[in-house]
Order: sequence, then structure tokens, then C-alpha cells
Amino acid sequence: MYMKTNFPTEMFQNLQTPFYYYDTELLNRTLQSAMTEANRYGYHLHYAVKANANSRVLESIRAAGLGADCVSGGEIQAAVDAGFSADKIVFAGVGKADWEINLGLDKDIFCFNVESLPELQVIDALAAAKGRTACVALRVNPEVDAHTHAHITTGKKENKFGINLDQLDGVLDSLAGLPHVRLIGLHFHIGSQLLDLEPFRALCGRVRELQANLEKRGVQVENLNFGGGLGIDYAQPDAHPIPDFGTYFKIFHDNFPVQPHQQIHFEPGRSIVGQCGALISKVLYVKEGSEKRFVILDAGFTELIRPALYQASHAIQNLTSDKKEVIYDVVGPICESSDCFAKDIPLPETQRGDLIALRSAGAYGEIMASQYNCRQLPAAYFSDLL
Ligand code: LLP
Repeated sequence: MYMKTNFPTEMFQNLQTPFYYYDTELLNRTLQSAMTEANRYGYHLHYAVKANANSRVLESIRAAGLGADCVSGGEIQAAVDAGFSADKIVFAGVGKADWEINLGLDKDIFCFNVESLPELQVIDALAAAKGRTACVALRVNPEVDAHTHAHITTGKKENKFGINLDQLDGVLDSLAGLPHVRLIGLHFHIGSQLLDLEPFRALCGRVRELQANLEKRGVQVENLNFGGGLGIDYAQPDAHPIPDFGTYFKIFHDNFPVQPHQQIHFEPGRSIVGQCGALISKVLYVKEGSEKRFVILDAGFTELIRPALYQASHAIQNLTSDKKEVIYDVVGPICESSDCFAKDIPLPETQRGDLIALRSAGAYGEIMASQYNCRQLPAAYFSDLL
């Protein structure tokens, strides 16, 4: 079936492929929806920069009023360069290097999301050396199964992330001996690409229990950060271009009563930028194998690694053919068998030179591109600048 799309296919003909194409209007509508739904409950959003750190994308997100969730010194720098104010930057990650912690201290970011006792001790020492006090939230592994792909599940006991529930008391005890850190809250993230929202309800229950235990110890939790994870519709991007932020935030509102002294935070990544981006590629060859027909693209896992790494499936469209459908494997040019975007999918009969869009590639697409095989990193174009 030939799908009519909003892509400016004529203009694409003049551009060197492969490249990323961002629909600026969709990004802005998505941001508006996320902010409107979050504002209903006074929730704070920190965009997970890891999903896409393209400077223009970051600037739109900053202009919409979100903060930034960073996982490296490079991301802190990218967020600062894009104009995010330091008091809206949070810094997570299991392995923060000293220079990265120092950068966070020097920029005076809002909060370090701390994942272990040794990390807490290092932050305390580095803050002491600067005569400063660092605000920290403890990232607690809530032991809630997100039922998502194993590579993007983070909240189970065996995952490397966060402080295990049974070790939390010990970490809280040690805070007394660490005068250069100030505990301002708790942080959680159970996984990514969640379409079944039930695990978020379970997370709320777990956090309520945890909070009750902390209150018994006399610890008041000022900030609660529920991480990211809301999924997008990879199968039907045109039917669901904007994720259902309303239902998502309502789950937290209905299941987690906020106390007057508390602020609630989220770190959406994919749900903000996923649907506005597509990887545009040209067909190099159509190869008739003895058992299969292959569409060989000029884009490979160097530009979009999600299918190879997570068996992720992205909707694929031929933008320049409306012929009868044929079954193809769609593959890239990289010298690895895993460089395959889709097996046995129907596409309009395809020929050399056709333009192909790999949809829903705005999150974890451009940012995960590599130069393997000495390839060039892909360019990015925006709908409002073409
Ligand atoms: N907060 C923390 C602590 C995270 O680890 C992540 C994602 C997020 C927020 C944002 O989650 P999101 O809203 O995007 O689900 N490369 C993989 C996804 C890795 C997610 C890592 N953590 C993929 O392409 O599916």
C-alpha cells in the first residue's frame, strides 16, 4: 500500500542520503502536550538528553520549558550549551567520572542521582574539596519488572542500576558521615518503551511503601523522580504521533498522593522525540537472492542501531513508489549479518534510487550513530529549515 506522507520527498531528492529528518512541528506539538499534561499536576519534566542531543532538538525542548536529565559530562555540557538552566539539570549514571562530577559541581546543577555508596563518598569528597555541598537523590532500584526488552529493563534486582532496597538503610546511615552531600530526594527508573502502563502503577505502590519506611526514620523526601519509560507506537507512527501523556501522568496522580512539601519529577526521552524523527535512505540495489529479495539501503546500523541491538522494528516506507507490494528483506551496507532492518516485509515494488523512510527514529537514532566501517555520521535536516 502506498502511504501518503507529509515528507517533502521532492526536496529530499537533492540531499545526500542517509540523513535524519525531523518534523519540527510534531516535536513542538509533542512538547506542548507533555507540558500541558504535566502542568495539570505541577509535575517537573527533565528531558533525557541521551535520547537525542541534536542541538536544535535540545533548543526546542529547552524553549518549551523542560529541564535536562544527563548521564555524562558531555550531556551536561550539551544541555548548558543549549541554554538549559543549571537548576533544572539532573545527573544520573552508574559510573560518573571525577571530572564529570566536578563539572556538575562547577555548573551547580540541581541534583546528582546517585547510584551507589562509593559514588556518594566520591561526590562528598569532591564537593568538600571545593568547599561545596552537593544535592543528591538516591537512585533506588525498586525491583519492579517493566516487562520490556531485557536490554532496556533497569528496575530489576539483577540490573546494575541503583541502590538495592535491602541496602538503602545502610546508605542512609552513612549519610551522617558525609557532610558535603545533602539528600534531597529519591530517583527511580524501571525501563524504557513501556506501552503497558501497569508497571508504573506498581512503581507508585513501591515508592509509597518506601516513603513510609523513610518517614519512620525521620527522613522527609522532598523530591521524587519517577524516571522515564513511556513508549511510542513504532508500528503505527501516523496513527499515534503523540504519546498519551494524559493517561501516563494520571496513573501517577491517581496512585501517588503528593505531600505538600514534595516536588515530583519525570525524565521522558523517547516519548518526546521518538516520533518526530525519520532516517531517510536511498535504495542502492535490489538483489534477487535464490530464496529472498533484498532491498539494500545506503543506511545501515551505523545510522540506526536499534533493530540490530534490540531486535526493534521501525515502520519502513518507500516514499517514491506506489507499485504493487512485494516481500523484501531490508538491509544495510555494513559488513555484518546483523545489519538488517526488517525481514519479509511488504513494500511497494522497489528499485534503485527509491527513497526509504525508517520511521520513529527520533529517539536513540542519530545519537547512537557510529563511524564503524569508516562511515560518516549522518546529517540532520529540519522541516522548518528545508
Ligand atoms: N531516566 C533514566 C535514568 C534512564 O536510564 C532513561 C533511559 C531515561 C530516563 C529515558 O527513558 P525513555 O523515556 O527514553 O524511555 N537505547 C534504547 C533505550 C535506552 C534507554 C536508557 N535509559 C533504545 O533505543 O530503545
